[in-house]
Amino acid sequence: MSNMEWISRGKKVIMNTYNRFPLTLTEGKGVYVKDAEGKKYLDFASGIAVNALGYGNKALVEALEEQINKIMHCSNLYWNTAAIETAEIMINHSIFDKVFFCNSGAEAIESALKLARKFGKKKHGENCYEIITMKNSFHGRTLGAITATGQEKYQKDLNPLLDGILYADFNDFESVKKLVSEKTCAILVEPIQGEGGIRPAKKDFLQKLRDLCNEKDILLMYDEVQCGIGRTGYLFAYEAYGVAPDVISLAKGLGGGFPIGAMMLVEKYSDIFEPGDHASTFGGNPAACTAAKVVLNSLMKASILENVKKQGDYLKEKLNKLKERYEIIIDVRGMGLMQGIELSLPVADIINQCIKSGLLLVGAGSQVIRFVPPLIVDKNEIDEAINILENVLKEV
Ligand SMILES: Cc1ncc(COP(=O)(O)O)c(C=O)c1O
Repeated sequence: MSNMEWISRGKKVIMNTYNRFPLTLTEGKGVYVKDAEGKKYLDFASGIAVNALGYGNKALVEALEEQINKIMHCSNLYWNTAAIETAEIMINHSIFDKVFFCNSGAEAIESALKLARKFGKKKHGENCYEIITMKNSFHGRTLGAITATGQEKYQKDLNPLLDGILYADFNDFESVKKLVSEKTCAILVEPIQGEGGIRPAKKDFLQKLRDLCNEKDILLMYDEVQCGIGRTGYLFAYEAYGVAPDVISLAKGLGGGFPIGAMMLVEKYSDIFEPGDHASTFGGNPAACTAAKVVLNSLMKASILENVKKQGDYLKEKLNKLKERYEIIIDVRGMGLMQGIELSLPVADIINQCIKSGLLLVGAGSQVIRFVPPLIVDKNEIDEAINILENVLKEV
């Protein structure tokens, strides 16, 4: 069946919540995917920064197969070995001491928002419930996460939103300081804003937030849903900055394509949630945790983090060269394999042309093209992507 035949079937039965590209994907291998008509694409979108190990990773597929044959789901009424082992790896390779597993980025953020509220009330009293987030941020689509998201375009028609979320200017410490009061229980920030246009935080900004949170005894929470799990060339983006949070939210790359999210926190805050405070039927699911275990072990063993640093530098260099040649590119920014180019015009047409030429890309806001290939991408694949993009830019 053709792409278009699938699309017309899909439109009849799937809710119209996405502007989808006219493409139906059916399989993938490494950094490439194929559509329903067998056409091959180089994938620099990775399911929106998800497929960390690429498609069809043997270790991932085999481990999942084995786990699914053993036990696929058992709930949190019981312990399961995959969740325990995966949490141990996450703890052993971070500054955190406890994990809460969930299923998505929005849920990992929701967990952090609830934790912050409970912390504020327990530690500083009933009126301590305000959370400061950043303008231009993106934290997900639940009502809590969308309130935390500092972009009105995602919030329209949803009022009233959650009470007690205040928005500061990203990378502007004074604007955060102005909002902090005895009502503040936490500050939530993406170390690199993803959907907001691939905007890295300044180290100095994060350090000042850290000092402020220490001084006020409030939580510093990082949303590493997109920039965590190897994207920056470090397992966690906070390592790239050398400024650690108290709480971190993760998802996307963690399961390498299998749905899983997680919130982690440091020991000092590990007794805030008690049984009954927070839960998820599927959280800690053995299959999802097995996927995460393979991703984490692979990142640690197979020098993938080194590859991210090396290829990330190479990609940035190539993008900067394009910037020298094409005036419409006004900025190149990012870290590791989370790079973006800002254009002086909307990017939709360029992305559509790239897709037609066999390269999957995704925007980040209306004027930024995002480059988030699988973390195993190599130099030749980057050259191929840049060639396709340049041929499209020549026509603009
Ligand atoms: C930084 C960040 N936080 C949270 C989310 C929400 O994640 P999910 O779509 O898995 O709910 C996203 C998704 O793009 C994200 O980029």
